[in-house]
Amino acid sequence: MTQTVPNGLPMQRDAGPFDPPRDLTRLREARPVSPLLFPDGHEGWLVTGYEAVRQLLADNRFSSRQDIGIIHLPYDTSGMPEQTEPSPPMPGVFIAMDPPDHTRMRRRLTGAFTVRRMKQLEEHIVEITERQLDELARRTPPVDLVKAFALPVPSLVISELLGVPHEDRESFQANSAQIMVRDQTLEEKVGAVDALMTFLTGLVTRKRAEPGDDILSDLTRHDDLSIEELVGAAFLLLLAGHETTANMLALGTFALLEHPEQRAELRANPELMPNAVEEMMRYLSVADIFFRYATEDIELCGETIGEGSTVVVSLLAANRDPERFDNPDTLDIHRKARGHLGFGHGVHQCLGQQLARVEMRAGFDGLLRRFPDLALAVPADEVRLRTDMNIYGVHELPVTWTGTAR
Ligand code: HEM
Repeated sequence: MTQTVPNGLPMQRDAGPFDPPRDLTRLREARPVSPLLFPDGHEGWLVTGYEAVRQLLADNRFSSRQDIGIIHLPYDTSGMPEQTEPSPPMPGVFIAMDPPDHTRMRRRLTGAFTVRRMKQLEEHIVEITERQLDELARRTPPVDLVKAFALPVPSLVISELLGVPHEDRESFQANSAQIMVRDQTLEEKVGAVDALMTFLTGLVTRKRAEPGDDILSDLTRHDDLSIEELVGAAFLLLLAGHETTANMLALGTFALLEHPEQRAELRANPELMPNAVEEMMRYLSVADIFFRYATEDIELCGETIGEGSTVVVSLLAANRDPERFDNPDTLDIHRKARGHLGFGHGVHQCLGQQLARVEMRAGFDGLLRRFPDLALAVPADEVRLRTDMNIYGVHELPVTWTGTAR
């Protein structure tokens, strides 16, 4: 039985704003590794079961050269990849590379994102977050929390870590937002990518000549990396480090507002926050869909994936698999959610995960503490969901409050 997806993957959140589309859940229950007919007529696979997704992500025979999940360039208009031989990856964009090329690039950056390094940065990230909350507290509600808080915090943090000057931030944000829209023309996307590339080429060229104290400057000190590779790496870090965390902050706040008992408990016991963040990563899985390409015939959980097949992976479906997590569709801040796949798995597992954790802890903690009666300013079913974007979340989160605390 081949599952057909005439209009791309099921994306509509017909089971609620936080739950996977019903068709995706049904598919996982029926066949966690399912043949899939793509809109352009070619056959590929959709992998939704936890065990299968984990195995697949750990197996480098599934190439990431098709994986432009974050950047999303060579797709047809439905947002699905067309059947093509994987194109050569953009230099430096190591999320779309396989070992050993991937290893060579990633190795240069691991030191900048370790748990230890992020611990050192934590205080500063808390400072940036609290400053943004000061600004929010001065506003008159209702306010869109996405624009006023969820987007600026990760954007300020990643720009500062990479050494992007203040005055350039707005144009970079506009271009990166445009790259993330799923159903726009290739020309529009290419235009936004070009603008960002031109900006980053200037930036890394200046840094190579006069390095400062930031991650991009450190990278420019490696003489064997070309300017194109530096630009590609900067491009990846900026995009990957920005929209993902922003959407976790906004959708996570929405989820907490919709689960008032857990929110109250978290506010009363902030030491529960690290565990709650892991559970929100599992439950929300905002970076859901990724692509791989089978470089040979591969057995996966009893199915044979033929050489050359495009494989679509749903991290959200995997993280809601009842075979792995009890009552998977329940948000439970006490759950042991470790082992979730929200940051991926295997060699491409998120490089920025410790940074993202620090940002989310600081963000949710500050928001709950300082806005004790934060509430949605519109009915929950009027919140606009990002079913049209690569990274899931909300377009806006109108919120209101009556008093603030320190
Ligand atoms: C890779 C999710 C935050 C940088 C990934 C992958 C996922 C992910 C699922 C694996 C992609 C794959 O297997 O193809 C997330 C989520 C985040 C987040 C949900 C926020 C909550 C960040 C941040 C950075 C970052 C803050 C900052 C630099 C990267 C990079 C990769 C990556 C560079 C590619 C790693 C590689 O290919 O070796 N992320 N990410 N991410 N992420 Fe994140």
